[in-house]
Amino acid sequence: MVTYNFDRVPNRRIPGVLNKWTWYPKDVLPLWVADMDFPTPKPILDELRKAVNQGVLGYELASTTLLETVASRMDRLYGWKVKPEWIVPVTGIVSGFNVAARAFGSPKKGYIVQPPVYNEFHEIKNNIGIPQLNAPFVKKVKGNILHYEIDWDRFKKQAKKVNIFLLCSPHNPLGIIFSRRDLAQMAEICLENNVLLVADEIHSELLLDEKKFTPVAKLSKEIANNTITLIAPSKTFNVPGLFCGFAIIPNKEFRDKYVKVVQDLKLHVASLGLHAAQVAFSGQCDEWLKEMRCYLTGNRDFLVDYVTKNMPDVRITIPDATYLAWLDFTQFNLDKSPFEFFLEKAKVALSDGAIFGEKGHVRLNFGTSRNILKQALNRMEKALHSVN
Ligand SMILES: Cc1ncc(COP(=O)(O)O)c(C=O)c1O
Repeated sequence: MVTYNFDRVPNRRIPGVLNKWTWYPKDVLPLWVADMDFPTPKPILDELRKAVNQGVLGYELASTTLLETVASRMDRLYGWKVKPEWIVPVTGIVSGFNVAARAFGSPKKGYIVQPPVYNEFHEIKNNIGIPQLNAPFVKKVKGNILHYEIDWDRFKKQAKKVNIFLLCSPHNPLGIIFSRRDLAQMAEICLENNVLLVADEIHSELLLDEKKFTPVAKLSKEIANNTITLIAPSKTFNVPGLFCGFAIIPNKEFRDKYVKVVQDLKLHVASLGLHAAQVAFSGQCDEWLKEMRCYLTGNRDFLVDYVTKNMPDVRITIPDATYLAWLDFTQFNLDKSPFEFFLEKAKVALSDGAIFGEKGHVRLNFGTSRNILKQALNRMEKALHSVN
């Protein structure tokens, strides 16, 4: 039974407001920054209205009820027994991993990332002043479909030179859900080399085709003791502007060190973010989420099918999670980056692959209506034909 209308996209071209819709001129379709065009589910909006109508927007802290709600969601979704006292509220996930880098990073030992990966992972070296070591995926192409696999030799080699591994699971921009086997192997290599595992699991509930996800810390007690897991309701329930997330840190010594940095930097979560998280993680929006994931799966299939049929020389991933697809234009003779090309010639704003660590590629956000996605693809197809 379809009860939600994901074809409806509220107008976000609001004068005086700077967001993904107003950043570029009016004739540009924005398929770039990672928020979705769908309205936030009603129970969250109702809760926010209630908080506003109460009339005072004072300081608030995460209540025991909220921490228990987060813990019971981990149990309900994955059978992962999280104790509420392990949970540290954070002002978003980018703050969350920067705090970890500040607490545990060292200028002598770097941190590993797996490019192409979320652009903010590449900023830590500048923010904190610790070396970034890359363990890039190996790219495989079958027809026009892209697959990326872990290069284990490279990963093991880099693990000897760092003390932090920043894992993106599921992976942005590649949409990979790592198998339990791959997760266990990465986590074991971290344990063997005394490398702290920081797992950014912000996309963990955006699963397509009813795929399953395993939090890496769930795999064993030893792994949990060596892991900081970062989760948030922001991507799943489309409330990223409320900046509220959670670091789950079973190891008390690590947790104390982490909390000290949060306190030193005075990173207080805004009250409306806490209210939204309580409702989001309570289960009240799970029917919405189920249907939204179906809609996203339909968008992903439409996108891959469209590209394969109408732009067969364009290579594309088939993401298992997230609303992000990764497109490869390195075989085209474009005189500029594909990001600039499509912005100028198609009036479609994508994310430039270079910021993720792979030039000649773009990331496309399909968290929008089928109609907008179709319009954007029509424009991109026309633009490509104009130069071929
Ligand atoms: C992997 C990943 N981590 C973190 C974020 C952003 O987190 P926040 O807005 O909570 O800082 C994003 C947003 O795109 C992301 O894709």
